Amino acid sequence: MKINKKKLLFVCLGNICRSPAAEGVMKSIINANKANAYYEVDSAGIGNWHVGQLPDSRMRACGLKRGYVFNSHARQFTKSDFQYYIFVMDQENYRQITSQTQNENERKKVVMLADYITQHANVKIIADPYYGNEKDFNNALDLIEDACQQLFVALETS
Ligand code: 4NP
Repeated sequence: MKINKKKLLFVCLGNICRSPAAEGVMKSIINANKANAYYEVDSAGIGNWHVGQLPDSRMRACGLKRGYVFNSHARQFTKSDFQYYIFVMDQENYRQITSQTQNENERKKVVMLADYITQHANVKIIADPYYGNEKDFNNALDLIEDACQQLFVALETS
């Protein structure tokens, strides 16, 4: 039997801080729910500066403290990625990805990951921690965990 997998792509600017963390958290949730057969999860960056690199060491350290191993290699978003459901981190990501869409079907596949946040009041974006400190990385990971939990529930009930 062929299973039609749900294809999820997390996108941020560099693909070394937020989106690889979201990829790792989502894979961990899917794994814990024994749902691996039904999902394909990846991440990509809008820019090409960090292509091939592991996630930022600060995000890797932040994840390790919570039991995650973030070890994907950065790649750049391409138009063929519109085969995925795309979850972006902030409005600038949203603008840049939707500016590459060619039709309404593609545009509808792009959503803000922060729309799934339920445990943090009035948070609309997952802000870039790259120029921040450990607190900013921890905060980004808190928001990513919150959103990914709810995203998984939404996907399982849709
Ligand atoms: P990310 O963070 O988009 O969460 O991966 C960034 C990483 C690198 C840069 C910007 C944001 N950069 O300008 O190099």
